[in-house]
Amino acid sequence: MPRHIRRLLLVLIGLGLVAVAVRNLVVDRSFYEYGHYRGNAVAEIARDKPKFQGTAYCQSCHAAEYDTWAHGLHYSPDTARIVKCEVCHGPGGGRDPGQNYLHAATGPVHPGNLKLAVPADTTALCTVCHEQIVGRPAEQRQIVSGEHAGGQQCSLCHDAHAPLRFKGALAAAAAGGNPAAGQRKTAACAPCHGPTGVSAAGLIGPTLAGQNRAYLAAALAAYRSGARKNPIMLGVASVLSNSDIEDIAAFFASQKCAAGPGGAAQLAAARAAGAAMCASCHGANGVPTGAAWPSLLGQSTDYLQGALRSYAGGDRSHVVMSAIAKSLDDAGTAKVAAYYGGAACK
Ligand code: HEC
Ligand code: HEC
Ligand code: HEC
Ligand code: HEC
Ligand code: HEC
Ligand code: HEC
Repeated sequence: MPRHIRRLLLVLIGLGLVAVAVRNLVVDRSFYEYGHYRGNAVAEIARDKPKFQGTAYCQSCHAAEYDTWAHGLHYSPDTARIVKCEVCHGPGGGRDPGQNYLHAATGPVHPGNLKLAVPADTTALCTVCHEQIVGRPAEQRQIVSGEHAGGQQCSLCHDAHAPLRFKGALAAAAAGGNPAAGQRKTAACAPCHGPTGVSAAGLIGPTLAGQNRAYLAAALAAYRSGARKNPIMLGVASVLSNSDIEDIAAFFASQKCAAGPGGAAQLAAARAAGAAMCASCHGANGVPTGAAWPSLLGQSTDYLQGALRSYAGGDRSHVVMSAIAKSLDDAGTAKVAAYYGGAACK
């Protein structure tokens, strides 16, 4: 055998020995047991149970959050329905000694080295327990999230720690205004909106009677700030104080604008007009399905069409309605506006 071939073989054998040594001495023995992984890691992860600290532990440092939570519906010890802090924020940590595997959720006890997450996507978190499922017991309150929230974050309206405490415009509505004081401040509105807020032929303002109070207050505040663009209402709203707005909203919300027919026949009519999706929030007959949505009762076809155009064009802006209005073409807009335009006050 020529000498250079012998040398080449020696080099190859040497490389082979190095490879065997690396496999046995450097690479973990369980590598490749289940594929391109360290097989023992599976057992280690399985052994590494989440360690919960309990709510009393959290109370010592997060007193404010604890207090809100302890007065909210996620803490109902009398019915034993308790959604503990660590259910939403992940385990507070601590781990068995001698464990060399370090999982993000079971590292050293929070707050030592371990940060707990603030849930960013509440549509994913809250629906785990609250999405309507056939067979889920009725005591567990359920919603159909597409209809209830229209894809918005639950935390936009609900305080996660006390879920029946509301935020934003909804909280303002809970604070309330004084309807009697409100009535005295509405003389200037009557020529356009009618004395009780029921719009009629010849009046250029939309119906305000029976409208959602939070919505009325938010609309007036939006005119005043210019976020909702309308030259007439900008002039009217710019002289109103916050308490005027609350009182006026309380007055018009308490006025009557009774609904026409509802029920299955009405839903079929809404579907035929292409308004099935609208009905999940605004109702098939214009009466909203939840406290969060405005009423469409008593509005004229022209006003409704104008409102949808404003959402599509940007003169009005709202996470849900702007997207919906942009998705409608001219014919679709005219059709749904004509449909709800038929929902007059009775
Ligand atoms: C010894 C005091 C202490 C205890 C006990 C404690 N925390 Fe914390 N927590 C902290 C500190 C300090 C921070 C860091 C604040 C920061 O970085 O702004 C924090 C941060 C957090 C955050 C993130 C806040 C943010 O804005 O990013 C969450 C969520 C949280 N803790 C939840 C809990 C929960 C749930 C428990 C009970 C298992 C708990 N904490 C127990 C002191 C504590
Ligand atoms: C139902 C789920 C849930 C439970 C139970 C819960 N939290 Fe939270 N927590 C959240 C969400 C969601 C947020 C983010 C709030 C937001 O975006 O408005 C949050 C925010 C926080 C924050 C950060 C506050 C901030 O302003 O950034 C702390 C601290 C906290 N929670 C501690 C606690 C403690 C302590 C408990 C138990 C007493 C608890 N949480 C129970 C869901 C929950
Ligand atoms: C681990 C399950 C669980 C998660 C996650 C959860 N909840 Fe709850 N929620 C409950 C239970 C159980 C109750 C009922 C407590 C009772 O009946 O006293 C409840 C009650 C409520 C209620 C009151 C319903 C009523 O009218 O009685 C609202 C609103 C609510 N949750 C909203 C939320 C929101 C928003 C989130 C997300 C930030 C959330 N929940 C996350 C289990 C959960
Ligand atoms: C636009 C505001 C808004 C958003 C966003 C929202 N909610 Fe609500 N939610 C409300 C209001 C207002 C109520 C009270 C309804 C009523 O009394 O008619 C409520 C009630 C509930 C209830 C109690 C229902 C019952 O039958 O008593 C649950 C559960 C609930 N919401 C869960 C959620 C969850 C989960 C999300 C996120 C997917 C969410 N909500 C998003 C405004 C909102
Ligand atoms: C000169 C006529 C005029 C007067 C006076 C007037 N409004 Fe209006 N108002 C309108 C018109 C026109 C609109 C529709 C504007 C638009 O398309 O945004 C409107 C819209 C509104 C809306 C929004 C309704 C909705 O469904 O979104 C509210 C709330 C309102 N007015 C309240 C008042 C109050 C309160 C007063 C008295 C303090 C008042 N307006 C005085 C003409 C008037
Ligand atoms: C997920 C719930 C939801 C759905 C679905 C929905 N809306 Fe709305 N709608 C709202 C909310 C919330 C507002 C109040 C927005 C604001 O503050 O400007 C609103 C406002 C409106 C207004 C303005 C009311 C006024 O008095 O000025 C009109 C008109 C309207 N919606 C029509 C529709 C039509 C038509 C559809 C179907 C094509 C529809 N909406 C679907 C939630 C919804």
